[in-house]
Amino acid sequence: MRMSVIGCGYLGAVHAAAMASIGHEVVGIDVDDRKIASLQKGEAPFFEPGLQDILAEAIASGRLSFTTDIAQAHGAAVHFVGVGTPQQKDGYAADLTYVNAAFDALIPHLTPGDVVAGKSTVPVGTASALAERVTPTGATLVWNPEFLREGFAVQDTVDPDRLVAGVPEGEEGERAAEILREVYHPSVAKGTPFIVTDYATAELVKVAANAFLATKISFINAMAEIAEVTGADVTQLADAIGHDVRIGRRFLGAGIGFGGGCLPKDIRAFSARAEELGRGESVAFLREVDAINLRRRERAVQLVVDALGGSVFQKRIAVLGAAFKPHSDDIRDSPALDAAVRLHGLGADVIVTDPEAVENARRVQPQLAYTTDRDEALQGADAVLVVTEWDEYRRELSPEHAAALAAGRIIVDGRNCLDAAAWRSAGWSYYGMGRP
Ligand code: UGA
Repeated sequence: MRMSVIGCGYLGAVHAAAMASIGHEVVGIDVDDRKIASLQKGEAPFFEPGLQDILAEAIASGRLSFTTDIAQAHGAAVHFVGVGTPQQKDGYAADLTYVNAAFDALIPHLTPGDVVAGKSTVPVGTASALAERVTPTGATLVWNPEFLREGFAVQDTVDPDRLVAGVPEGEEGERAAEILREVYHPSVAKGTPFIVTDYATAELVKVAANAFLATKISFINAMAEIAEVTGADVTQLADAIGHDVRIGRRFLGAGIGFGGGCLPKDIRAFSARAEELGRGESVAFLREVDAINLRRRERAVQLVVDALGGSVFQKRIAVLGAAFKPHSDDIRDSPALDAAVRLHGLGADVIVTDPEAVENARRVQPQLAYTTDRDEALQGADAVLVVTEWDEYRRELSPEHAAALAAGRIIVDGRNCLDAAAWRSAGWSYYGMGRP
């Protein structure tokens, strides 16, 4: 099938490459000419495992191309819109500038029978408003939220755990759902749940899923706060409650909390939208979820300050990690980078290391010192703070090796990802999050 993908960021670039990899003919469109130039050469403009390979392969096959010219969308049967919806600068609501710009640009190129599939995360109600603009062209709007995780984006796109299509009522909607089934034929054929619903439900499925995940993380981080004043160990607590299949162990990783381009802004946008709908109280707990999450960043910093005897002034601190999670170079709302900035603000001599995210981090926080070399960061450090659980720090860094490089023996494990006993027996003072 011929398709266009408008917006070539973390979502769109992966979607375009993945659709081409399953046999479709795809044109990826973005207003950013640097990004397009890189993609056109088969080079992923960001780090995402597996993307480089499917990108290069699809371009070589001739099924995938990239352009800044929206007119190239003309003639595609399906148009995916996957542009960003960041948090507004002066509030909690989602900024729909890019969504509106994408539809403004696309609408003149639509032909009757086309399907426009919105993938961006939008406030509930957006799709029905956009449908009023799409319908007069004879095209049909469907809302097809995306659930991919960064770091596993290729796998999640090619083999998602569910597909959701919000469609208009009646025959038009049925036809559009049928077209989406064809688009995702390998997943549909293997029995992946394909849920056809209305616009509002499709939009809400997306934000509800992210709100639930954020709540799960903040729940366990709230338990960490209680553990900290009672001497309990939150990691054992999580293991124990996680054995209950109704609860489950995943997303019960207590630590410095969640970040990234999705969870934080999505729960805020959901709160803002619920307020507009007169149902602010229904999701008032999301404010608490956000507050707990932000407190954990402060806590990690406080652990470093306390471990260094009350002040980090002129102390050298190695911050291991800048990305909001491993297998990603994304530093948007990263708890790791935030902790580094806070320590720098307290007068510490901070050096940040990350295998992939240094370049991005340096761009937004140029006042910090950076290195991609973990050992260089550890050299002479008075304290070490682990804030992104890359294998380079979690598995491959031995306490003995770190001890040979660092000046001090203080390790703060902001992700509860290290073997506390091993670090302690190598002579380190180990501090976890919500652990004795
Ligand atoms: C999240 C959702 O998991 C995806 O399903 C969704 O499609 C995506 O947002 C989106 O809306 O686009 P992502 O932001 O890639 O995906 O990252 P997650 O794996 O959800 O992690 C989010 C944050 O939570 C990270 O900072 C991670 O370190 C943190 N986290 C995760 C914890 O602190 N504890 C955990 O137990 C799990």
